[in-house]
Amino acid sequence: MTARAFPDGFLFGAATAAYQIEGAAFEDGRTASIWDAFARVPGAVIDGDTGDVACDHYHRYADDVALMKGLGIQTYRFSTSWSRVRPDGGAVNRKGIDFYSRLVDELLDAGILPWLTLYHWDLPQALEEKGGWTSRDTVERFVEYAGTMHDALGDRVTQWTTLNEPWCSSFLSYTAGAHAPGRQSVRDGLLAAHHLLLAHGSAVQELRGRGAQELGLTLNLTNAEAVDPDDSADVDAARRIDGQFNRWFLDPVFRATYPGDIVEDIRAVDAEAVAAFEGAVRDGDLATISTPLEFLGVNYYHGEYVSGRPSPVPVPGGDAPTDRVILSPYPSHDAIHWHERGLERTNMGWEIEPAGLTRLLRRVADEYVGATPLYVTENGAAGDDALVDGVVADDQRVAFVRDHIAAIRDALDEGVDVRGYFYWSLLDNYEWAWGYAKRFGIVHVDYATQRRTVKESGRAYARIIAARAV
Ligand code: NOJ
Repeated sequence: MTARAFPDGFLFGAATAAYQIEGAAFEDGRTASIWDAFARVPGAVIDGDTGDVACDHYHRYADDVALMKGLGIQTYRFSTSWSRVRPDGGAVNRKGIDFYSRLVDELLDAGILPWLTLYHWDLPQALEEKGGWTSRDTVERFVEYAGTMHDALGDRVTQWTTLNEPWCSSFLSYTAGAHAPGRQSVRDGLLAAHHLLLAHGSAVQELRGRGAQELGLTLNLTNAEAVDPDDSADVDAARRIDGQFNRWFLDPVFRATYPGDIVEDIRAVDAEAVAAFEGAVRDGDLATISTPLEFLGVNYYHGEYVSGRPSPVPVPGGDAPTDRVILSPYPSHDAIHWHERGLERTNMGWEIEPAGLTRLLRRVADEYVGATPLYVTENGAAGDDALVDGVVADDQRVAFVRDHIAAIRDALDEGVDVRGYFYWSLLDNYEWAWGYAKRFGIVHVDYATQRRTVKESGRAYARIIAARAV
């Protein structure tokens, strides 16, 4: 393979999120978020792990920035903790603000572009107790919080992402109950998704009004592909997966509408939930949600190869020995079954399919974003990593990073305007309901000592960045 260069201006970065790395959960005035509460619910998180200490990044941020500088990382995607800067969703906490101010200064001194996400799933618990994202009032609180962050950092931060993966913070959290706050209600998931999107659009308007210029949203998108494109049940399964993961968010943001086929599917199984959702969508909401953006962030991990029929093939590393029904919070008249393609899998059991990233970027560019540029704001692999004599030989991740960056190069060749790549994650960290059991970092963290060790994948990524080519 001949090396293929990336255009000047293409950014190579790494990503993290506040609750997953910061620790210092109750320091300097921070109060509980829904994740602090959820992590304490027996059985909610593997081994009862919490983010109380995590990677202790709150105290070690300067070392972590130095580590990134050493790897040549150009941009750092991080999130701010709402309950650190406005504890309980209330008054501004100067000490919380100061932490992010120090972090941003450290990044700028190191020549690293700060890429700030306002909401990476950690709603103040006090707001959840007032209804959380099912309450329209939370939208106002979010806009206030966005303004606070802009007051504090708007002179130095240019890149603003409102939400990370609202599918997760709505359907996975309020309907499937797998993430905080652990509610299990179709109605609540629909209301949460709408209010999150409204919070996004409202915050974009607020920040733009204050002079912010680079505003965007990060979605977890996927390729939903029918096992047998000639089988109507398979095609329908793919339509439904595409509807809930992709179109439920892309359609309102880029077309000012919700996907009617999915609304009707849900109505068929839960008419009350849809009535509540329709009641919550007020005149003007979709215009707000579809406020134009400067970029769309795409998080890509794996595709969905789906069928209306059970898989006859064992799923290695899967949850069930012979079949896996998609744990879908989206209520569906028929089950959706995941089929095995025989591709290599990561430690999460997720299939590795770099070419899927090229297809996904092209589809989003062709069908949705028009001239809005794309960034791959997350892509990564969990590995069965071992630190042996100071080395983590994570061969699978070395190939994963290289092959996904090459897949972006392919998308560029096909004319897609993609301007950056963020590996998830800089550090091994708190993988939500999986606790510390899954390691995604290009830097290994020994949680007992907080010692950081750059993995072989980190070195390989640094070489790609230095060469600006794969
Ligand atoms: C998506 C999320 O944004 C991030 O928080 C998570 O750790 C990774 N995917 C890996 O699952």
